[in-house]
Amino acid sequence: MNEHASQPEPATGRDPAARAVERTADRVADGPSDWDGDDYQRRLRANLDGTDPHGEVAFVQRYAPERVLDAGCGTGRVAIELARRDVEVVGVDHSASMLATARRLAPELPWVHADLASLALGRTFDAVVLAGNVPLFTAPGTQAALLEGCARHLDVGSVLVVGFQLGRGYDLASFDQHAQAVGLELVERYATWDRDPFGPGSDYAVSVHRPLDE
Ligand SMILES: C[S@@+](CC[C@H](N)C(=O)[O-])C[C@H]1O[C@@H](n2cnc3c(N)ncnc32)[C@H](O)[C@@H]1O
Repeated sequence: MNEHASQPEPATGRDPAARAVERTADRVADGPSDWDGDDYQRRLRANLDGTDPHGEVAFVQRYAPERVLDAGCGTGRVAIELARRDVEVVGVDHSASMLATARRLAPELPWVHADLASLALGRTFDAVVLAGNVPLFTAPGTQAALLEGCARHLDVGSVLVVGFQLGRGYDLASFDQHAQAVGLELVERYATWDRDPFGPGSDYAVSVHRPLDE
């Protein structure tokens, strides 16, 4: 069991989808083979319990991207909704089981089985989105490489959007340092996907980075 992922959830104002993903992911283990896509999807639906599952999608659409990489797409929640809104998407995940569920839910979309840390698709996107605590579920010590792999798929003017819970093993200072090391600058930060202001007491961060101008 991932010790960071099993801690009780603090009170928070973040959006229902982010909370549901956290509750859903609370029982999973450390490696890519530990995810069970169908079980994740079942529990995600139960945890959403009729609430809006698309807070992240609304957030991302503010940047009007035409091409989005859903990085750590899991069962495809974000990519599938973006595609429904006519955005070109690619979903990447290193869990074969999560991707099998994504493929079953949306066989027409491109799903790539790969580790983000070494990802090299040979193309860029207007936005690369990591929704649902992805940096907390990459192998310990690979967060810097994870950001490097994502940055490889950004162009000048693209955005990297990352949302994750604080106090669970990966702190913002390290995240900012890793982002800066791969040529990204922080342009916006919120406490929720609803864009509540970020402050010292925030327990969640949604960060938007852009590649630095050369
Ligand atoms: C809690 S799930 C979130 C799934 C989806 N983004 C969502 O919001 O519903 C975290 C996902 O990140 C994926 N992940 C974590 N580290 C990864 C890596 N290095 N490469 C590819 N996928 C990764 C896991 O396999 C898992 O599917």
